[in-house]
Amino acid sequence: MQKNFHTETKQIPGHVAIIMDGNGRWARNRGLPRIAGHRQGVESVTQVVDACARKGVRFLSLFAFSSENWGRPRHEVDALMTLLLEYLASQRQKMIDNRIRLQVIGDVSRMTESVQQAIADAVRETSEGDGLTLVLALSYGGRDEILRAVGRMLDQVSDGALDPASIDAETFAAHLDFPGMPAADLMIRTSGEMRLSNFLLWQAAYTELYFTDVLWPDFSLEELDRAFDHYYQRRRRFGLTDEQLGSDLNDDQPQETDH
Ligand code: FPP
Repeated sequence: MQKNFHTETKQIPGHVAIIMDGNGRWARNRGLPRIAGHRQGVESVTQVVDACARKGVRFLSLFAFSSENWGRPRHEVDALMTLLLEYLASQRQKMIDNRIRLQVIGDVSRMTESVQQAIADAVRETSEGDGLTLVLALSYGGRDEILRAVGRMLDQVSDGALDPASIDAETFAAHLDFPGMPAADLMIRTSGEMRLSNFLLWQAAYTELYFTDVLWPDFSLEELDRAFDHYYQRRRRFGLTDEQLGSDLNDDQPQETDH
């Protein structure tokens, strides 16, 4: 396991994760149906994806639909699926042009055939992208993902392909939904709630957390810059002491990209 600690952070965060919260409240504040908030939320998604791609962020993970969101009223679930389909259709060419690669984490098998097909097509068509990797968490829960990783490892153990004694953090990470995804550097949550809500539990072990009261549909590029500015001021210690890390704040070491 590579151990490149960058103790502080003039560097752009390599992996930004966002819990996009507050769409319903944004709509309610305006006397609009909840779906109007989700629709406006898609505008924020589009802007933030473009900005992260421009800034050189390598991975952007968006919590777009949680495993718990299946319990919402049927019409809201259907509307979110429609928005997802519209988003994929409208952004497909732009993603290809901007070399954005799409990936998905979560249990997409619970989605309809047509949604699964649209996701698979978009992932395939953007697979050559070598700029930003956009990871949509869909039908996603962090505990579920960890259980899926355990299941995959158990299958390999029973096939004789994996020695249980050899399992370490790196092996484990290689069995998560998207093995190529590094640990999250910065996790942003909007709307004033201060919890992880089952997002990226494994990948968030050393993540810097940033909470803002701004509702997701109002999350502007100025807000994104504010979150990055906070991140730049954090001193990441990864469990070590200040003395061990030295006084080289703002040094330019490589990102910690493993789990
Ligand atoms: C939380 O707001 C947001 C969601 C459950 C869904 C997020 C979805 C989008 C931004 C749109 C679809 C995304 C893509 C990528 C096409 P909430 O409804 O829980 O808000 P509330 O807490 O104010 O009720």
